[in-house]
Amino acid sequence: MVHSVSDHYAVGDLGERILAALAGSGADLDALTVEDLAPLDALHIRGRKATEDLSRLARIEPGADLLDAGCGIGGTSRYLAASTGANVTGVDLTEQYIGVAKMLSERVGLADRTDFRQGSVLDLPFDEESFDVVWTEHVQMNVSDKAGFYGELYRVLRSGGTLAFHDIFAGPKGGLHFPVPWAPDSSISHLIPIEELRGVLAGAGFSQRHWEDKTGASTEFFVSRLEAEKREGMPGVGPHVVMEDPGRKFANLLRNLQEGRICVVQAVMKKPAGA
Ligand SMILES: C[S@@+](CC[C@H](N)C(=O)[O-])C[C@H]1O[C@@H](n2cnc3c(N)ncnc32)[C@H](O)[C@@H]1O
Repeated sequence: MVHSVSDHYAVGDLGERILAALAGSGADLDALTVEDLAPLDALHIRGRKATEDLSRLARIEPGADLLDAGCGIGGTSRYLAASTGANVTGVDLTEQYIGVAKMLSERVGLADRTDFRQGSVLDLPFDEESFDVVWTEHVQMNVSDKAGFYGELYRVLRSGGTLAFHDIFAGPKGGLHFPVPWAPDSSISHLIPIEELRGVLAGAGFSQRHWEDKTGASTEFFVSRLEAEKREGMPGVGPHVVMEDPGRKFANLLRNLQEGRICVVQAVMKKPAGA
């Protein structure tokens, strides 16, 4: 069966579900902070920590125009706007996520610093050379047209601009255990090996500034999280609030990491000055 990406991510009453979980964990809904949201709005491996690491590497200037391509419910967009002073625009295919991203930004007082739009990363609603930084985390796994994806990110970047990504690719063993957080089966999961990725990035015109394999750190992250859940039970607020069947999806994610079926890379690329 071929699934739709948006249907896979959309969850009934997501906004209410998030607010109920936050209230249940003791957060003050009338004074929510970016930190309150961190356990549930970073929809990628290693959560907020991964975003902090990549943000340091990307060296984002205050006032930079930044695109969060495939922004989900806007966790990274809010964190980057608050921590770097960048003007952040998030684009995501899943209409419901855009509604929730706007609602959460309003709640934490970042509505004027984060703009969210529904759209596809394959056809971004922006002129060329619109952004100083393009950021993308855990999105291209759902995109089969890799050349189209990285080509579109390159198009909207200004000359000398930065692409920062943290993403999942095919490991040496290949073949996945499903479901995983980004797909119920192979119909919307499109992983390529690293060698192929490097060719696509170079073909789009990017040059490399930083490249780091995060597979080991990602595996350790899930091992310690699953151990903590066994010891202490599921926390009130976490990624499970925003996803169906989290136990099976995270167990498969860990198994895929441990068996060399997937790998994780964080990287900073440049659109050459003058390009
Ligand atoms: C695993 S979530 C990651 C969200 C966010 N980047 C984060 O790290 O919190 C993947 C997101 O990619 C979005 N997505 C997948 N394919 C897309 C496309 N073609 N265009 C825009 N967004 C897409 C999904 O809607 C989903 O919100």
